[in-house]
Amino acid sequence: MIRLEDVVYEVDGVNILDGVSLQIEKGEVFVIMGTSGAGKTTILRLLNGLLRPTSGRVFIDGEDITQLTEKEMTRIRRRVALVFQSAALFDSLPVWANVGFAWRKERLPEGELLRRVQKILALVGLDGVEDRMPAELSGGMQKRVSLARAVAMEPDVILYDEPTSGLDPITSRKILDLMVELQNRLKVTSVVVTHDLQAASQIGTRVALLHEGKIAFVGSPAELYESPQSIVQEFVAGG
Ligand SMILES: Nc1ncnc2c1ncn2[C@@H]1O[C@H](COP(=O)(O)OP(=O)(O)OP(=O)(O)O)[C@@H](O)[C@H]1O
Ligand SMILES: [Mg+2]
Repeated sequence: MIRLEDVVYEVDGVNILDGVSLQIEKGEVFVIMGTSGAGKTTILRLLNGLLRPTSGRVFIDGEDITQLTEKEMTRIRRRVALVFQSAALFDSLPVWANVGFAWRKERLPEGELLRRVQKILALVGLDGVEDRMPAELSGGMQKRVSLARAVAMEPDVILYDEPTSGLDPITSRKILDLMVELQNRLKVTSVVVTHDLQAASQIGTRVALLHEGKIAFVGSPAELYESPQSIVQEFVAGG
């Protein structure tokens, strides 16, 4: 489904990613962990074509997206939705316009648009907020709107960048439950970047640990905890 082949991403002579190879199967919840600055967000940006690797290849369903034109990449970005580290909503647009952003070119009748928006907001557990502005929502609600906006694109893959960071434990739990529910209902593939070990083992089918630009470990959450590798042990003890 998703494959990175020997991906190098260089910035100012430094290899942020230094030969990353990964395969993520359809329907997985694949978690990427690693210290701050390890290159986790960079991987997500490569997966939806916001960045192109310096060398190596990125395949989505067998298609090498590193070779696509900017126009063709738009198609990939619809299929591979990125939920940003900050909710990154359009601050000047009300919630309904944020969620309905994917349909803006369809010229839907107002009632139909609102009905669709409400259906998706209900899916993320939000009711009656469609007319509010993003600034009038709490951080947790903004994350859910951001998730709703991604879901509206009907993607095959959802990339989550730190979906629970900055949230209290109860709201975090709600977001994680929601991610699992969406996973089951929409049959998507999820790639989740998180610092939260507990969250990773709760929702991850597999976990990868990124260290110094390379994948130091890939395995099930149970295997992560049992790994004899010192890098993994250090990470687990620190988390
Ligand atoms: N456009 C850029 N220009 C310069 N440096 C960059 C750029 N993008 C990323 N970097 C550097 O690449 C490294 C990896 O960044 P990235 O955002 O992928 O890390 P991360 O693992 O997501 O970290 P965090 O956990 O703090 O979000 C960092 O050292 C960052 O400073
Ligand atoms: Mg990041």
